[in-house]
Amino acid sequence: MTENRNPEAASTYHDATKHSYASIRTNPHFMDWSNQPLPFKIYPTLETMRLPAEMHQTGVAALSVIAESVPALTSAAPDLEAVAQLLYLSGGITRKRSYPGREFYFRAAACTGALYEVELYLVCGDLSNLQAGVYHFAPAEFGLRRLRAGDYRRALLEATGGEPSIAHAPLTIVCTCTYWRNAWKYQARTYRHFGWDNGTLLANLLAVATALGLTARVVCGFVDADVNRLLDVDPQREVAFSLIAFGYTDALPPKVPAEISPLHLETVPLSQREVDYPLMREMHAASSLASPEEAESWRGHTPTTNISPPAGPIVSLEPFSDGEMPRDPIEQVIQRRGSTRRFARSPITVPQLSTMLDRATRGVPADFLDPPGAQLNDLYLIVHAIEGLLPGAYSFHRGRGVLECLKRGNFRADAGYLGLGQDLSADAAVDIFFLADLRPILQRFGNRGYRVVQLEAGILGGKLYLAAYAQRLGATGLTFFDDDVTRFFSPHAEGKSAIFLVAVGHSAKHKPV
Ligand SMILES: Cc1cc2nc3c(=O)[nH]c(=O)nc-3n(C[C@H](O)[C@H](O)[C@H](O)COP(=O)(O)O)c2cc1C
Repeated sequence: MTENRNPEAASTYHDATKHSYASIRTNPHFMDWSNQPLPFKIYPTLETMRLPAEMHQTGVAALSVIAESVPALTSAAPDLEAVAQLLYLSGGITRKRSYPGREFYFRAAACTGALYEVELYLVCGDLSNLQAGVYHFAPAEFGLRRLRAGDYRRALLEATGGEPSIAHAPLTIVCTCTYWRNAWKYQARTYRHFGWDNGTLLANLLAVATALGLTARVVCGFVDADVNRLLDVDPQREVAFSLIAFGYTDALPPKVPAEISPLHLETVPLSQREVDYPLMREMHAASSLASPEEAESWRGHTPTTNISPPAGPIVSLEPFSDGEMPRDPIEQVIQRRGSTRRFARSPITVPQLSTMLDRATRGVPADFLDPPGAQLNDLYLIVHAIEGLLPGAYSFHRGRGVLECLKRGNFRADAGYLGLGQDLSADAAVDIFFLADLRPILQRFGNRGYRVVQLEAGILGGKLYLAAYAQRLGATGLTFFDDDVTRFFSPHAEGKSAIFLVAVGHSAKHKPV
């Protein structure tokens, strides 16, 4: 049995990184501002090739592209401008804010603590205006640094055990996660953040790919060491977490040398010193795949999540019709997105909520979600202020398009507590929790199931962000007290684990429209 197949490690990691009232109270950790990590990976010896800043606007409605994907075998390859668009609208800098003594550069996708631990690498064949190579995306310069010249796509294909979308993709983006950049604030819980923060970024990439007419597929089954070697990252510090294949071409990539040579490239240290949290590296090692055969047999066959038929009162979703649907284009929605810092306690409507839930959960093209439309997380809601919907706790039955009322009441105080005592979850119109039964997921996917359940939640959460901003509402991701969340939604949620939380409502800064 390989290490991934012994899912003790994921359960141990999950239990050890739960937040509880006591764990937060007794944690002596503080943020050492003098040792704050750099938000960018810098290769001082490599030249940066600037990406085109002028981009064509697709004008395609955000609420369409978060719900749809381009069919798998649609022939199309991105050109340099499309590459720039994909990168800018996912990992690019969209806002700058200055505070005394420091500047913050905010990116297109939400990220815990604005620490941006996810790096993007391109592995491509010859594209229009971009030569085949392995590149690192440098958001600060909005450019690419070439790590390897030539077509290395075959190395990715082999690492995935022959995943068809990778075989035929002119471009694959590899998302890596850097432990220290996020652990500086979040300590060992950072490994969960890898999934969330990589997920919000993938939500944007998937939506933009659809707007550009490119098929896209998230791939998490790969031999970790082989992908890390191709990117030449130090796996003690930075690890490949997900791949996303873009476009389709008939031709298969050419052969590459059997040995991928190390590059020994210098990078600027992130901090004067780094603190190691071995629990995360153990979790990563225990969820790694060791051979192409293991990667091949890992993907697909998603376990069905057993959400029992509604037993309580139900309310049907009423999404906007196509004619009523807000049509703000994806580019505008991504550029105006930013996490809400304060919610007005004003209501949103049933069609707004319904549209968000419906559009965000129509399925993610991913190698761990088979058949298409499968989902690992279940959504639970605390409704505070939705016109025409009684306040209370609800479970979302995606297949039926209904909300089941689990209990009625004003739960603003409970929601504030569950969201780690933050006003955001108390003041929002609705808090959307993601819970998952980890047992069948870990049984099917091994420890790597833990990576993908977090990643899926991040993708769906990222889609909810976009669905909210497309309707000129506000949203924010939030962290939570794990077991208290499960208790709140029990007995319905008994046995499930809290994975993610997004709060949605009107921002206190903007008047409702
Ligand atoms: C998974 C996730 C969890 C988050 N948790 C919190 C939180 O607990 N409290 C908070 O104020 N903001 C939270 N945020 C919002 C981030 O702080 C915010 O995304 C980051 O500062 C970047 O800013 P932007 O989203 O406005 O671009 C979270 C975001 C994500 C994606």
